[in-house]
Amino acid sequence: MHDNFRNNIIWQKNTITRIKRENKNGHKSILVWLTGLSGSGKSSIANVVEAMLFKHGVNTYLLDGDNIRLGLCSDLSFSLVDRQENIRRLGEVSKIMLDSGILVLASVISPYKCHRQLIFDIVGKNNCFEVFVDTPISICRKRDSKGLYKKADSGEIRDFTGVQSIYETPEAPDLILDGTLPLKKNAEKIIKKLYNKNIIPKFKSME
Ligand code: ADX
Repeated sequence: MHDNFRNNIIWQKNTITRIKRENKNGHKSILVWLTGLSGSGKSSIANVVEAMLFKHGVNTYLLDGDNIRLGLCSDLSFSLVDRQENIRRLGEVSKIMLDSGILVLASVISPYKCHRQLIFDIVGKNNCFEVFVDTPISICRKRDSKGLYKKADSGEIRDFTGVQSIYETPEAPDLILDGTLPLKKNAEKIIKKLYNKNIIPKFKSME
């Protein structure tokens, strides 16, 4: 007979808390969630933001959708159910990383509103800063840096976001970036918001 094993697992309170880690780091932890079409520039922007933060001593980690799908989520497809599981795992990993005091950046297409809501539910909305990288699909297609739009058009890839599968535009993101602007400009907008939200200290270059 099976007992209900979940009733027998009790949260263990650790001595070293998130606040203690944040105090040691000299900055707070938050999840910066970048959503947008493939080719919108979200990974490139996140990469520049991380480099800027790292340079100024902020403890960061960038969870990139493609990289996670090559490891932790390599068993998942792009079906609706698998995309949700992809997001759930990213949410749980982000939650642990936030607790460890790290400023987490995530660059994930996350095309469905309900999946992005799942992220907020897992980590808590006040722990998440949603950035919509708004790039017209015509530009994403023109860039086609990975050649995936071409493959989707020819039918070589199924369920490709923006081609056979929809992207639901965020209704009230914390920040909207024009993905056609220079990377540095967009990266600086995120850094500025993090400073205004009292997550990171002021950098000399911001003065
Ligand atoms: S999500 O839609 O499930 O949130 P995620 O960000 O994890 O997507 O992974 C997207 C990456 O996988 C894209 O950047 C692209 O390189 C690759 N990819 C491969 N097949 C697809 C597909 N059918 N739809 C979207 N992206 C795909």
